[in-house]
Amino acid sequence: MSSFPEGFLWGASTAPHQVEGGNVNADLWRSEWAPGSPFREPSGDACDHYHRYPEDIATLAELGLNAYRFGVEWARIEPEEGYFSRAALDHYRRMVATCLERGVTPVVTYYHFSSPRWFASAGGWDGPGAVDRFARYAERVTEHIGDLVPWVCTINEPNLISLMVHTRFAPAASREDGLGLPEHLRLPEGAPVPPPVAWPSPNIEIMAKAHRKAAEAVKAGPGDSAVGWTLALLDLQAAEGGEQRCAAARQATLLDWLDVSRDDDFVGVQTYTRERIGPDGLLPVPDGVPTTQTGWEVYPPALAHSVRLAAERAGVPVLVTENGMATDDDEARIAYTRAALEGLAECVADGVDVRGYLHWTLLDNFEWTSGYAMTFGLIAVDRTTFARTVKPSARWLGEVARAGGPF
Ligand code: NOJ
Repeated sequence: MSSFPEGFLWGASTAPHQVEGGNVNADLWRSEWAPGSPFREPSGDACDHYHRYPEDIATLAELGLNAYRFGVEWARIEPEEGYFSRAALDHYRRMVATCLERGVTPVVTYYHFSSPRWFASAGGWDGPGAVDRFARYAERVTEHIGDLVPWVCTINEPNLISLMVHTRFAPAASREDGLGLPEHLRLPEGAPVPPPVAWPSPNIEIMAKAHRKAAEAVKAGPGDSAVGWTLALLDLQAAEGGEQRCAAARQATLLDWLDVSRDDDFVGVQTYTRERIGPDGLLPVPDGVPTTQTGWEVYPPALAHSVRLAAERAGVPVLVTENGMATDDDEARIAYTRAALEGLAECVADGVDVRGYLHWTLLDNFEWTSGYAMTFGLIAVDRTTFARTVKPSARWLGEVARAGGPF
């Protein structure tokens, strides 16, 4: 018997800047090419998903998966402030329609770290009018595709910077602008400062307002989309003596953000690993404990811990919008995912309202400052020809989806 409810979403996630390629109007593109760029390499053509999405969605469906989370790219849709590209909006409508034709439920993210250059230059999320600018974009996107989209994620990982301040995760926010980032996240002394990038604001009020206003725009329709945002939910655990510090970090980086989700239709949970906090701060992963290519501890129970926390704190249904690991050992990916799903099945058995599991990620792609060196994908992508190779983990997850578990 299936351990998961009827209609459970089984799928994979991507983000536009990481897979589409040629995102030339984005703030990140400019930063990737700037002298002193914190990026290991530029995103370039990425996976050419902008053109190859029909093939990729077909593969996902043939594997047996029934959901695909992808993003619409603000820098393509509104490349200049107030100018909305009809062609770009039509493109995303075709993507959504392609999913539906294949029996795949589209889960659409409106903002996933990349912004138009003009938005970043105007101060990004902390700039004047950011909330209204984002809401207007959300309104235009919804007008164009809302009637076909059952699930909308407004903002991806709005708590990222807040989390980075407390952890060692380091996407390209190495700026000297008072975010209070730890030393290792900052640019080296004397390095030229790259052009501005609109990473989420560490100011929860701003991100909450942007989310709320965008959610209202989505709710105004057309369509009847469920709306939420997706949170980076690190499983923060106190080691001996670190109880107070850990409690403070959990409050600021997890609980406060989950509280904002209380009025939503769901909360997107994105969990990869745990961090242990001692009296002096983060503890390194102990010697001998397996880690991923990103240096994160291989710790599958983190997912169930976060799902329980999110459900309890936000009190709304949970959609797992990301979970996975960067590895070149595909058997290890299967083992990790199996263990994470076993934990998720226990959550469901305990009555937690979990609506789906979307693996990160469909394709090996552009992992921000780490470039293409990190392979999180269920499908490999040849960097020269863009040829796709389906990995055993993709077939395995497809089988799990068809059977509705078990693993
Ligand atoms: C979370 C982010 O949403 C995604 O863009 C990133 O690639 C994965 N985590 C892995 O780091």
